Amino acid sequence: MVDGGRKVLANLIHSQVDVHERFGGVVPELAARDHLERLPHLLDAALQKAGAQPGDLDLVAVTRGPGLIGCLLVGVGVAEGLAAAWSKPLTGVNHLWGHIYAAMLSRPDLEPPLLGLVVSGAHSDLVRMPEHGRFEVLGRTRDDAAGEAFDKAARMLGLGFPGGPALDRLARQGDPDRQPLPRSSLPGLEYSFSGVKTALLYRLRDLGETVSERDRADLAAAFERSVVESLVEKLDQALEDSPYGEVVVAGGVAANTLLRKRAAEVVAGRATLTMPPIELCTDNAAMIAAAGFYAARHGADADPSLGWD
Ligand code: KG4
Ligand code: ZN
Repeated sequence: MVDGGRKVLANLIHSQVDVHERFGGVVPELAARDHLERLPHLLDAALQKAGAQPGDLDLVAVTRGPGLIGCLLVGVGVAEGLAAAWSKPLTGVNHLWGHIYAAMLSRPDLEPPLLGLVVSGAHSDLVRMPEHGRFEVLGRTRDDAAGEAFDKAARMLGLGFPGGPALDRLARQGDPDRQPLPRSSLPGLEYSFSGVKTALLYRLRDLGETVSERDRADLAAAFERSVVESLVEKLDQALEDSPYGEVVVAGGVAANTLLRKRAAEVVAGRATLTMPPIELCTDNAAMIAAAGFYAARHGADADPSLGWD
């Protein structure tokens, strides 16, 4: 629950880690069912936390995509029901807009135009946001998203689910120079992370049973460096291509320790960098509420020409 698109009143998260952990990844059907079970309770708790009644609300915002279709259907169904029961307008929000708007929750004076890097489990997108409600994709990944690559690498390294944070922790103990991994170098503002993933697979296969704890930490650090250096290289290039006063790096992978450090170094002295606090980087309701506030105001929620999915 958010006030004026900028202030978080309540932001409750129900983690599904225990539902998916034993499968080593998200099981879409279980995710959707858990959404259905949890949403009503979370809504009650959020209203209570914010000290609000349904009558106090101006608008109901819901993620309309991109995302897992079953979860989206549950969310949209519940939101439609609430909007009808409470006689409130309903706004559908692009999930990726939400990640950018998370930065506005952490810096209430932040305004477009801005350059955004949204890095999540399914996206690695560089975008230009000229004004509220307008986004233009400048570049993206040709294959895996950064978060997906981290999750798969973590799985290869025998780390638990979710993989990204576990790989981040292990990489802190490793030396990226001891067993360096290759980094993709595509022209323009495109990313590719499948090559480094395959390189890690082969390296682990070569090491076989002899793989030590130190090897695993070093490989985690090398993998993380390869992905992060690609991400910041294109960020650097986008800043070279045209000047921006504001840069936002957001999405689940923006929680990564090395990315936070390297993005700050690359942007320093050229623009103001905003990265949401960790709890607003990974998917959350507050970012959707914030984006919904601006989408409703600018009438952009129904724009089919968005092209950001
Ligand atoms: O935005 P998000 O919460 O969900 C999607 O929209 O996909 O991003 C989740 C992704 C996962 O792939 C997760 O492993 C990754 O973000 N992630 C991280 C870290 N924390 C979350 N990746 C690397 N380092 C982290 N600290
Ligand atoms: Zn996300």
